[in-house]
Amino acid sequence: MSRKIIAGNWKMNLHLKEGADLISATNSYLNQNPVEHIDVVVAPPAYQLVQSSQLSGNVKLSVSAQNMAAQDNGAFTGELSASMVKDAGAELVIIGHSERREIFGEQDDLLKQKLHKAIDSGLYPIFCVGESLEQRKNGEHFKHIENQLKAGLSDFSSEQLPNIIVAYEPIWAIGTGETASPEQAQEMHAFIRKFLGSHFSAAVADEVSILYGGSVKPGNAKDLFGQPDIDGGLIGGASIKAESFIELIKIGEEVLR
Ligand code: 13P
Repeated sequence: MSRKIIAGNWKMNLHLKEGADLISATNSYLNQNPVEHIDVVVAPPAYQLVQSSQLSGNVKLSVSAQNMAAQDNGAFTGELSASMVKDAGAELVIIGHSERREIFGEQDDLLKQKLHKAIDSGLYPIFCVGESLEQRKNGEHFKHIENQLKAGLSDFSSEQLPNIIVAYEPIWAIGTGETASPEQAQEMHAFIRKFLGSHFSAAVADEVSILYGGSVKPGNAKDLFGQPDIDGGLIGGASIKAESFIELIKIGEEVLR
């Protein structure tokens, strides 16, 4: 069975003090209200990884980087290697977020290298896929997701794959307030699981966590998380306020199975 996960991607938001307050609030909530069914992840900006890891004492609260380099070390100004991410105390890393793909031009080949580097280094990658509004309007969304999955995942073994978390984040639903309907999200998640089943095995497909991301909020989370192939959320805006993030943790613990 797949891990159920509530993950907050802070993107380029929150400074040291705000980040510390948010982790401390989440950590103390989890200490007082132990969760059994979910894992909680926070992905702060890179310079807060150490602080976040030090403050996240609860075993159910892990830290993720938002990105990392494909290379091990050397002359790569501005980059952070997998071993540095681990050294900072993080256990996961987001790879291929649509903002990295669209704004920073990260392409399939590079993302595949990053995914392999993460797995080889013992990090759990959260691999993001998602289509644009235009692709959806043209009916190309399934093909596009399949291409992204193939490009990123095809060279992994069935033993490695369950350590990769997939996040379906339709670009048109990110930060727009417009969420995929639970039916639209479920349809794509089932498609992703079917892809994993046919390229690896039914057992692998069953073990891989597939998260939904795109305007997840306390008001719509119950319906989304209640879908059979949705294993949790990768949450942007609603994850940077303790109140809404904790509410999402509560809903996740109640609904995700
Ligand atoms: P929002 O929840 O702000 O739409 O962001 C989703 C996202 O991109 C998480 O990685």
